[in-house]
Amino acid sequence: MFGRSAPVEIDLGAGDGVYAEARAKREPGTNFVAVERLLGRAKKIAKKAVRNDLVNLKVLRIESWYFIKNLCAPESLAAITLRYPDPWPKRRHQGNRILNRNFAEDAARAVARGGLLKLTTDASEYFEWACREMADSVSWIPDSSWTGEREPTSEFEELFAKEGRELYRRAWRKA
Ligand SMILES: C[S@@+](CC[C@H](N)C(=O)[O-])C[C@H]1O[C@@H](n2cnc3c(N)ncnc32)[C@H](O)[C@@H]1O
Repeated sequence: MFGRSAPVEIDLGAGDGVYAEARAKREPGTNFVAVERLLGRAKKIAKKAVRNDLVNLKVLRIESWYFIKNLCAPESLAAITLRYPDPWPKRRHQGNRILNRNFAEDAARAVARGGLLKLTTDASEYFEWACREMADSVSWIPDSSWTGEREPTSEFEELFAKEGRELYRRAWRKA
């Protein structure tokens, strides 16, 4: 996709691409793939990449879980970012949550040894649930060296910050 060999980071559920654009501008040596299932949002990301000549930012309109499970070569990714994934708070909808134990294993196959899976969310119950799902995987180790402080903001982060919501962040390193 990029015509060059460089570390690849995936932003899953990238929204309008504010975060992916900022990362791609700041880190030209990394290839970024923004994955978004809504066409309107995917188009906005593509426009940001073209307008800013960001040859290191591509967008795919596709389901996150399908992309990670079926389209990523083994050990091909340096990192996966999940920012404010839909929390699906109702018990009967929890099967729709992207970060669950099946995803943990699919992501472990796609991420290279030493690579990161980073989660940021405003949903405390989902955060705790996701941490439990990840703890059951032997492939991932919590990485306290990642605090998220250097992360650029995103449109949902801006929204939640205005509302004064608490944020929860954690990263796991591929064993
Ligand atoms: C709450 S928004 C967060 C957007 C962005 N990450 C941010 O921080 O502003 C969640 C985004 O994930 C997308 N999304 C939800 N489920 C998805 C899936 N299964 N595959 C791809 N995108 C998905 C939604 O369309 C939406 O744009």
